[in-house]
Amino acid sequence: MKNNKPGVTKNDIFSLVTRYMKEKGVVSPSRISIGAPAYDEKELNQAIDSLLDVWISMGPKVKSFEKQAAKYVGTKYAVAVNSGSSANLIALATFIAVHKIPRGSEVIMPATTFATVASPVIQLGLVPVYVDIDKNSWNIDPTQIEKAISKNTRIIMPVHTFGNPADMDLIKNIAKKHKLLILEDACEAHGASIRNRKVPSFGDMGTWSFFVAHNITTGEGGMVFTNNEEYYNALISLREFGRMPAENNANKRLAYEDKYLGRYDTRYIFIRLGYNVRMTDIAASLGIEQLKKLDDLNAMRFERVNRYMDALKTFHKYLELPSVKKNTVHSFYGFPFIIRKDSPFSRRDITSFLEDRNIETRPFFAGCLPDQPGFRIEPHRTVGKLPISRWARDNGIFVGCHPMLSNTQERQVIQAFRDFFLEKGLK
Ligand SMILES: Cc1ncc(COP(=O)(O)O)c(C=O)c1O
Repeated sequence: MKNNKPGVTKNDIFSLVTRYMKEKGVVSPSRISIGAPAYDEKELNQAIDSLLDVWISMGPKVKSFEKQAAKYVGTKYAVAVNSGSSANLIALATFIAVHKIPRGSEVIMPATTFATVASPVIQLGLVPVYVDIDKNSWNIDPTQIEKAISKNTRIIMPVHTFGNPADMDLIKNIAKKHKLLILEDACEAHGASIRNRKVPSFGDMGTWSFFVAHNITTGEGGMVFTNNEEYYNALISLREFGRMPAENNANKRLAYEDKYLGRYDTRYIFIRLGYNVRMTDIAASLGIEQLKKLDDLNAMRFERVNRYMDALKTFHKYLELPSVKKNTVHSFYGFPFIIRKDSPFSRRDITSFLEDRNIETRPFFAGCLPDQPGFRIEPHRTVGKLPISRWARDNGIFVGCHPMLSNTQERQVIQAFRDFFLEKGLK
């Protein structure tokens, strides 16, 4: 086999990419989108580095990204996977495996959230119990959690919706009192914190998503966080076919022995039923550079949100705007608002107006999960009539506030709101 030394070095390639990106400059999305990756030559060169080394599946970059993410969030361990949905799936499967949680056990979660908060619960044979959201934070309402608890409850799954930290003090108290586990979904909340402590470091486990619309992105990707070594060992095994964790058998590949298999290659010992939800080194290399920029990218979001808030407060009697609790950092995945009950216009009026001006709008994810066709037919429980969740389902909207929007685009958003109210004759 030939082993020719190429006439160009990696550094030549990196310099060319850098030159290309600098000459191209920052290009804002043509549409005023919900999200867009904030990439420069650093992400591209990290990924090219992996490609040139032909490290294309899970390898050293995944390890390094995990180390960096755990340090950022403040947990002992981080386990990288291929999506936020997979992160929730293996976190729940870990609880089930470690605590031998029986099928039919209940998981309390907000009714207003994304589909794959609840679907892995159902797929694993557990039952979601949907509770209403709080009318100000739009997060799970802790007073409703108490009402939802039954003898089958085992897990509370708070979600830091749109990057707004849920009330972890109250939730932790409830969990402690009733001996419940907490899986904290921070898939929309990179960099959000409570009293300078980052989410999702409050619960027994927590998750992030790196889907392309999120504050930092690897295209597709996710992470599970925990301080618990037993969970960590189950997570890395579940991520990879249910295999005996590689950490346990380094340099001992042929050391495994039992009465059925005799001496056997430890890499082919499967200690449980697992999945394959690994992150690739290409995705991790993007994440490594993204994480370094997270605080700066969030700072740009906060400035944009402040300007939106300033401009929209005049219309506060028609629109419920996001609120940020003292001592918390809200990471503003998007800029959400809800049309007030007595407003003289509908969500359709305002979304059509904004969309006509090239401004992308979205509802509050699934709106109210137990009303979704795929979820209403599955076993579940609800607590009360979920009035706030159904109000958010019918009247909630979010628009983009991400750093890739230009200042001109930001002004277009603000002007569009002003024009909408002007056209309606509302002040
Ligand atoms: C709260 C929440 N949980 C989980 C997910 C799933 O993440 P992913 O799209 O990476 O699978 C999302 C998706 O955005 C989400 O908003």
